[in-house]
Amino acid sequence: MSVTETYPIRVELTKESKLSQVDFNDLKFGKILADHMLVAEYEDGVWTDVKIVPYGDLTISPSMSALHYGQAIFEGIKAYKFADGTVSIFRPEKNFERFNLSAQRLEMPAVPEEIFMGGLKKLLSIDSEWVPSVEGAALYIRPFMFATEAALGVHPSISYKFVIITGPVGAYYNKPLRLKVETHYTRAAQGGVGFSKNAGNYALSLYPTRIANDEGFDQLIWTDAKEHKYIEEAGTANLIFRIGDTIITPDGETILHGVTRRSIIELANKWGYKAEQRTVSVQELIDGIKAGEVSEAFAAGTAATLTPISVIGFEGQTYELPPVEGREFSTKVLTYLNDLRYGRVADELGWNTLVGK
Ligand code: COI
Repeated sequence: MSVTETYPIRVELTKESKLSQVDFNDLKFGKILADHMLVAEYEDGVWTDVKIVPYGDLTISPSMSALHYGQAIFEGIKAYKFADGTVSIFRPEKNFERFNLSAQRLEMPAVPEEIFMGGLKKLLSIDSEWVPSVEGAALYIRPFMFATEAALGVHPSISYKFVIITGPVGAYYNKPLRLKVETHYTRAAQGGVGFSKNAGNYALSLYPTRIANDEGFDQLIWTDAKEHKYIEEAGTANLIFRIGDTIITPDGETILHGVTRRSIIELANKWGYKAEQRTVSVQELIDGIKAGEVSEAFAAGTAATLTPISVIGFEGQTYELPPVEGREFSTKVLTYLNDLRYGRVADELGWNTLVGK
């Protein structure tokens, strides 16, 4: 242990690796979990007992407050493998920052950088063989924290568990998306928790999404809570449109500020495209599609990466978007991000955190 370590990590390696059972050419999202996980406890105001142990069940109390009142937050990050075997994590420091913003909003303790970032790097160095080298695949990293106090009173928990699990994944969506503009149900309101990555934001999406699925759509486009006139996000990913000569993404405190979305806007600016983060009305989008001005539309997220949108449903009508093949900006972004993540171009922007081989 180095003298600067505040949170030493105890390591217990698995006696039975599951790696040989994995078919890296047939990866379903979130179904296969790597050999180890990081677990840390928060008790009496301090983080303690940080350990990397074999992936397995956790023991919880039936009165654990996360189960009753939803104090639970998470992140999604991806690691990639270069041709020479180097493992690289895509902008994890941005997820670390967002995780602690979510924690603050849910009245949970901040996780120290040494545990989140240091623990993540150590976990990946142990499970580096789990990072796929297949193009299009990655190691999905799921850091999460939940309230563990056994108490039924509604108050901030006095104890928490921070955990990082990982697993190799392929595409989250394997075809262009049909999205329905949701004008009845609401994901987030001003002053609420829309910007935070908390479990409840996903639970509330399930029923309206199932209705949309029954109507032939893959996902929703959430709109603002007050008037249902302004586009927010897709729930599992942010939204980006190219209308006329401008790359536009909806903004505001009711959406999750995604790391992929941010990276794409930064690239658009760097490459000299006109890019805007602003309020986008449903009418602007529909009018743009009707006028043939919406040349590109896609979902952007860690899990979704960049998934093209093919159809938008609004008030019982469906609107087709131009063929995916001709989408210049989306193709350029996806090619660049893949080249960067798999180490085929120089990392000029410092977006890759290298773990080693
Ligand atoms: C991600 O993109 O990492 C997400 O967390 C979205 C979804 C899988 C819940």
